[in-house]
Amino acid sequence: MDVLLKGVRGNIPTATLDTSLYGGNTACLEVYTKDETRIILDAGTGLRDAWSNPPDSGEAHIFITHGHVDHLAGLWFFKPLHMPHWTTNLYLPAWLDNLPDFLHRVGFFPVPFEQLQGRVVFHLVQAGDRLAVGRAAVEAFAVRHPGGGLGYRVRDDHSVLVYTGDHEIEPGEAARNEAAEFLRGADLAVVDAQYNLADYRPGFGHAAWEDWLEAAARAGLGRLVLTHHDPARSDHELENLDRALQELKGQSGLDIQVGQEGQRLTLGAPKAALRRRPDRLFQFLEELSAYRDERVVLDRILAKAREITRADAGTIFLVEGDDLVLAYFHNDSLFTVDEAHRHAYYSLRLPIAKNNSIVSFVAATGQPLNLPDVRALPAGAAYRFNDSLDRRTGYATISLLALPFMDSGGRTLGVMQLVNSLDPLYRVPRPFSLDMERCGRVLVREVSGRLERSAVERNGIYGILRMAAVHDPFETCPHAERVGAIAAELYHAWAYRHGHPPDIVRHNKGGLRLAAMLHDIGKVGISDLILKKKGRLTPEEITVMRDHTRLGVSILSDDPGEISALARDIVLHHHQRWDGQGYAGSGDEGRLAGEAIPLEARITAIADVFDALVSRRYYKKPWTFAAALDYMRREAGGHFDPDLMASLEDIVELLHFIYERFPDKDIPAGERPEITRTRLKSIGELGSAGYWGRRPKTPQKILD
Ligand code: C2E
Ligand code: SIN
Ligand code: SIN
Ligand code: FE
Ligand code: FE
Repeated sequence: MDVLLKGVRGNIPTATLDTSLYGGNTACLEVYTKDETRIILDAGTGLRDAWSNPPDSGEAHIFITHGHVDHLAGLWFFKPLHMPHWTTNLYLPAWLDNLPDFLHRVGFFPVPFEQLQGRVVFHLVQAGDRLAVGRAAVEAFAVRHPGGGLGYRVRDDHSVLVYTGDHEIEPGEAARNEAAEFLRGADLAVVDAQYNLADYRPGFGHAAWEDWLEAAARAGLGRLVLTHHDPARSDHELENLDRALQELKGQSGLDIQVGQEGQRLTLGAPKAALRRRPDRLFQFLEELSAYRDERVVLDRILAKAREITRADAGTIFLVEGDDLVLAYFHNDSLFTVDEAHRHAYYSLRLPIAKNNSIVSFVAATGQPLNLPDVRALPAGAAYRFNDSLDRRTGYATISLLALPFMDSGGRTLGVMQLVNSLDPLYRVPRPFSLDMERCGRVLVREVSGRLERSAVERNGIYGILRMAAVHDPFETCPHAERVGAIAAELYHAWAYRHGHPPDIVRHNKGGLRLAAMLHDIGKVGISDLILKKKGRLTPEEITVMRDHTRLGVSILSDDPGEISALARDIVLHHHQRWDGQGYAGSGDEGRLAGEAIPLEARITAIADVFDALVSRRYYKKPWTFAAALDYMRREAGGHFDPDLMASLEDIVELLHFIYERFPDKDIPAGERPEITRTRLKSIGELGSAGYWGRRPKTPQKILD
């Protein structure tokens, strides 16, 4: 079991310089049991910082000891409450049964619990209750505090934690024996020691640390952590106390310390904690195999590597020919992880040779670099820090870990860069530890194989597209890439708005991207005379042209695989119209309308037409984005599914990045679609305008 102290202050949070070392947040503990069940004890202001990057879905368990504000004030700021795929179990002392309603009624919480994005399940708890949470058990016991209070005992297979919440040890034997009973059998007790015997205030509901020491000795307790520090207690005082306690420790054998915000306490064999890490990695790699889309795989890897190394930022570059191309860019200080997604299309290209940047060096040599401070590189280094991203964004890179992805033949596929490993307590950059480097290396090695396989699959599709391109240079790879990307993002925005589970969305998105790239594959069977005709097609030519849908299906194999099936639906139906006036071949048969048209074809229709409008064709000039969007909006309910068109609005900004990432080559400058140049700085400022920040249910901005 791991216990994280998120808030150790009592009564009221402090924000003074002389309390910043031990921390100013009020009561909150995060508990990670052996089976990774996440339990939180108390919801003081320390809760705000608990799981600052929660996964997309999950279940949390929060146990409240009593209703005083220093044990509740953080509740509203618990991210999963505002995330659609989270369930938060809130365990309240039975006498607080009207608390949720009360919090809303008096305006502590702007919206009632039922209207939160996340699901909240209430449980009423009484002293003596024993609740199963995952494979752990939580027992409640009654403590002495004005208005009543519960303490909690958490057991997993290996260890027992006791958390008293607020408890007063009144003078006298009976009270000390009672406190000793709380502690009996625990491996660790986290207790309320707001006072010492000199400033103890009878009746205020808090204990003096000397009394806990006594109780711990009676209970034979091994480890005691003091919390609920008085707001007036300075770091200096607490440090002195801690020093005094360390001396006592030598005499009594009791491991006792003053709790500090951000501190992690590990119970059970330390070896077990070490062994768990590869298991978690393994689990993660299993999970990865469900994702087909290389971009999703890269996104997950980068997120995982950043989690393990606590990196504030990270990038992945992929080798494309002789260049390195920025494929992924995450940066917590500039935007949330989800917004970072936009950067999937931000383009930055560096030649590998004749470039002495750190990424180029790592790509060229296949040698990892772990740099504690990029401002002070080793003398005579063959590389230098390229600060162009920093300059563009105003970000300050300090520590940097760069790891190469290698294929089985020893060729570099790409480079992952992790930036600024943040100290968990002070949030300042520290060098990446050797352990972190090792974890990172395992990750990139395992993942290289995955990348190699997805490259093979992708290259298969590129092969088909290149074949088509010989025939029609304007219907080339960039066009296919763009239609694939627009379709994938449109689907993502739509699925998000409809609350589909993120794992399923990620999986489908990858398949859709690849399948949509093939939508016009049937054009290889159309004569050049028609395809490359400069002007309008005659009715006869249109009839021939329309057969590219059926031709495409006949070109695609009968492969029962998921992508082939998706691709066949898209190829056949991408010219259907929502109002039923489209086509699935040169004749009238097979026409569909509305939802009878497969969703993926309705999505691809929007992506295809948008791209056709803003691109140059033999028969037309490119339209501006504004004109294209304008036209398409008017076709909502006509040509296009109106519900999907609503989601297109959510990705308008993203469209610009897609066109920057996949530009048409060999097109006279005057005829390029106009692209709004957006600097990285302003990408960060896009904030929650896009669908990533949009909440389907409650429109208010909930967290700061
Ligand atoms: P495409 O060029 O990829 O265009 C795909 C779809 O985008 C078209 O499907 C149409 O729905 C839309 N689109 C493209 N350009 C315009 C435009 O200027 N105005 C409007 N309102 N919509 C546009 P559609 O019409 O079924 O055409 C399928 C394919 O047939 C086109 O694929 C293109 O390869 C060919 N095609 C269509 N019209 C002409 C033409 O007048 N001349 C030539 N040479 N080819 C044409
Ligand atoms: C950590 O989580 O403490 C760093 C990861 C590691 O040590 O490998
Ligand atoms: C969320 O609603 O997804 C988290 C809270 C926020 O971003 O404001
Ligand atoms: Fe088509
Ligand atoms: Fe097309």
